[in-house]
Amino acid sequence: MNFEQWMRSVLERVEKALEHYLPPESIAPARLHEAMRYAVLGGGKRVRPLLCHAAGELTGARAESLEAAAAALEMVHVYSLVHDDMPCMDDDDLRRGKPTVHVKYDDAMALLVGDALQSQAFVALTEGAALAPAQQAALTRELALAIGSIGMAGGQAIDLASVGKKLTREELETMHRMKTGALLRASVRMGALAGETPDAQTLRALDAYAAAVGLAFQVVDDILDATSDSATLGKTAGKDAKDDKPTYVSIIGLDASRALAVQLRSDAHAALEPFGTRAQRLAELADLVVNRVS
Ligand code: IPE
Ligand code: IPE
Ligand code: MG
Ligand code: MG
Ligand code: MG
Repeated sequence: MNFEQWMRSVLERVEKALEHYLPPESIAPARLHEAMRYAVLGGGKRVRPLLCHAAGELTGARAESLEAAAAALEMVHVYSLVHDDMPCMDDDDLRRGKPTVHVKYDDAMALLVGDALQSQAFVALTEGAALAPAQQAALTRELALAIGSIGMAGGQAIDLASVGKKLTREELETMHRMKTGALLRASVRMGALAGETPDAQTLRALDAYAAAVGLAFQVVDDILDATSDSATLGKTAGKDAKDDKPTYVSIIGLDASRALAVQLRSDAHAALEPFGTRAQRLAELADLVVNRVS
């Protein structure tokens, strides 16, 4: 199977899993369930589910286990996007090529869609026998830690507090590692933990890989905001500069940002060396992330 075929087959499974774990519109409250589905289904690159599957293949995780973990990761990610776009945060009206949830519905609904998606993620992780009880506990903790005040939510708090400020490069890196890197790291770890318990060395190598890809991802996002267009991105381009957000582009410039993304791709590949060809999908995913700007 080549990378394209692998991606296609994983993406198909991810869509099915999301469809399975999202409550149907036929259940009340119908409008909330409709809005959750509007936000999650039919769009997005599904990078977190892909990372989860690729890491899980390394530890022999079962397809069913990875489907639950990947669905949980994507639902949490979409929750973060729905809230990120709200007027109290980035105030964006376009996401994945469609009106954002608060524009299509309203602010209260966007808030609730985020809340409910976050909850539903933990339902997915702990429902049925997709994951063994010990794995349910381990993955629940990984995800909860990654998205709380020392992870994604904390990073978003720093992001909002930094508007109009000039962060040092270290502060910027910390913000990016928290708001975006933490969930991407959790995607890799949760995939690995969904299989045979990985030894400490394996987890360390995967962590080093995920740290590089996680930071690269937000560096690339910053670059694309400055260089791409809204039609290509499916979200408003040029928004970071307009809002005076500190980004890699504003702090170190475009060329240095591109060079950093390429360096981080090499770091990611280097971290995978102990695994040889077994980590091919993870290596290809690092390429996929960075090749959007190199
Ligand atoms: C956008 O994430 C928000 C960031 C964390 C940079 P993605 O670029 O993964 O968005 P989708 O899921 O493909 O829409
Ligand atoms: C979003 O970062 C990070 C999270 C949603 C946690 P951005 O604000 O840069 O994401 P986009 O550019 O709106 O997708
Ligand atoms: Mg934001
Ligand atoms: Mg935003
Ligand atoms: Mg952005």
